[in-house]
Amino acid sequence: MAASEIDLSRLPPGPTGPSALVAMRFLLRGPHFLEACRDRYGPVFTIRLNTGRTVVIAGDPAIAKEVFQGSADDLYAGAGNVVLKPILGARSVLLLDGPEHLRQRRLMLPPFHGERMRAYGETMREVAERHVARWPVGRAFAVHPTMQAITLEIILRTVFGVQERADVERLAEPMKRLLNSTDQPLRLLSLQFTSSANAKPRSPWGRVYALMAPVDALIHEQIAARRADAEPRDDILSLLLAARDEDGNALTDAELRDELMTLLLAGHETTATALAWTVERLVRTPRVLTRLREEVESGEGTDYLDATIKEALRLRPVVPGVIRQLQRPLRIGGMELPAGVHVSPSIYLIHRRADVYPEPYAFRPERFLGEDAPGTYEWLPFGGGIRRCLGASFALYEMRIVLETVLRRAELETTDAASEPVKRRFVTYTPRDGGRVRVTRLAPAASPARVAV
Ligand code: HEM
Repeated sequence: MAASEIDLSRLPPGPTGPSALVAMRFLLRGPHFLEACRDRYGPVFTIRLNTGRTVVIAGDPAIAKEVFQGSADDLYAGAGNVVLKPILGARSVLLLDGPEHLRQRRLMLPPFHGERMRAYGETMREVAERHVARWPVGRAFAVHPTMQAITLEIILRTVFGVQERADVERLAEPMKRLLNSTDQPLRLLSLQFTSSANAKPRSPWGRVYALMAPVDALIHEQIAARRADAEPRDDILSLLLAARDEDGNALTDAELRDELMTLLLAGHETTATALAWTVERLVRTPRVLTRLREEVESGEGTDYLDATIKEALRLRPVVPGVIRQLQRPLRIGGMELPAGVHVSPSIYLIHRRADVYPEPYAFRPERFLGEDAPGTYEWLPFGGGIRRCLGASFALYEMRIVLETVLRRAELETTDAASEPVKRRFVTYTPRDGGRVRVTRLAPAASPARVAV
């Protein structure tokens, strides 16, 4: 159903005015816009975008629960993620719905089981150690690019199984260029509102396609090399090549290309941003930084580190919301919603509810220690239900290892500088200045890890 046919009078109220303006505020002033709407209309409100979408934004855990527990046949996610299609490809698990999504997801799940993470731990630590050892001492720098380099190398090694440093560089460079091409908010706007079909070379999408071609070629090269290689390996590409569905079918090359691109994009940028936000929060919260250092130095567990990671993902969620399109009229949160409407559980707004998180703007990892930790639908940086992030365990494990390495190797200077504002980068919320830090001392040589991971 086209948005113009949806009867807005039956939906919760929201900002009026030209849909192009609403879309622009939503994309360019995301956090401010969401909070302003919440203050004016309450936690559930409707926005109408000039892409033709009508979206009910829900800063309400009860609605998130209904959406995540709802039938996948009624609530399509792929349709909501369609803006990613030109890059990820039509067979990406992020874009599929119904039985096709389930098939693809089942094939991809095993390599991401919590247990498997240990196999990747050593690689994660080795990569983190090497990058942190190169951090400058005594001058401020943005931590986000170095976190991107770390998470990209980790993905290339664990997902593609790339071993040689030269190969990592060869793959990383075109990938970085592709991602950076979506960095500018205005370019992002033009990508959202221009068609990707038949893109001319100098059009916004034409430029993205030009950057994508070498990445595609490299991905296909990796698939071919791994198919030709009989040696057993434990990287994710090898596991995907060996995976079979219920009918005994394997993933095709085209499916593998789209899934690898999905893992590259969904897996490295998100985790790098979450790490940058954690550092941005830590240097502004000396109490937490000190307690964390003590825990790492004592070598006694990772409870406070894990709580700090959760609190960073709460206060600065990297993905601000998820989106589903109703395939038939549904009653959600007591509202009668028509088919065609989108509903978006707002991770950003749910994480800022004062009734769930007293003093919601304070950075306080203690919230996640002890009995009354937030519930499943109150802390949802990875979404939920049948579409919950496939890489959640991977990301949390990686964050733990990278942060533990940072805390053990680098002394970070605290600051009373203002918080870094949120900047939108494609579908993520990133720190505007990249999480600026100053290292006052760097431990001279890598010492063996003292924290059990
Ligand atoms: C801190 C880091 C990360 C965050 C915040 C994050 C967040 C998310 C969110 C919010 C979703 C959408 C869930 C929904 O629609 O309900 C998602 C989906 C997904 N993520 Fe992540 N993610 C992270 C890291 C990763 C990593 C490391 C990987 C893989 C290596 C990954 C792979 C995926 C995939 C494949 C999906 C699609 C799942 C499906 O549609 O069935 N993510 N992620």
